[in-house]
Amino acid sequence: MKVKVSRKAHFNAAHRLYRKDWDDKRNNQIFGKCSNPNFHGHNYELIVSVNGEIDEETGFVIDVKVLKDLIKSEIEDAFDHKNLNLEVPEFMELNPTAENIAVVTWKKLRPHIDLKHELEVVLYETPRNFVTFSG
Ligand code: NI
Repeated sequence: MKVKVSRKAHFNAAHRLYRKDWDDKRNNQIFGKCSNPNFHGHNYELIVSVNGEIDEETGFVIDVKVLKDLIKSEIEDAFDHKNLNLEVPEFMELNPTAENIAVVTWKKLRPHIDLKHELEVVLYETPRNFVTFSG
């Protein structure tokens, strides 16, 4: 019997979407306000889900406390109140779109979650725009 256990988290971060090999006009055409050279922030909402069998002894799929601490150490400590382009190594050469942030988040968490569990990351960049990555 598989159950999906989810934990919500939050971080604020600044970013700029652009390509160095494009001029300002092209960057503005493709990325709009998110290409502002002076950066801007988002209130990111994150939902991390672990799907797996209920452990017979504990009744847990995963201890939510463990998941909470993992999100804190791997994601919140790394991204919260940071300029993603300038301060987070993963985004120095990778556009910090919601898609890429979700993939990077998944890759940072995956090694810490038992392989018998499925991992899914949902990232809200705004209350209406969100992306999902599950490997
Ligand atoms: Ni943006």
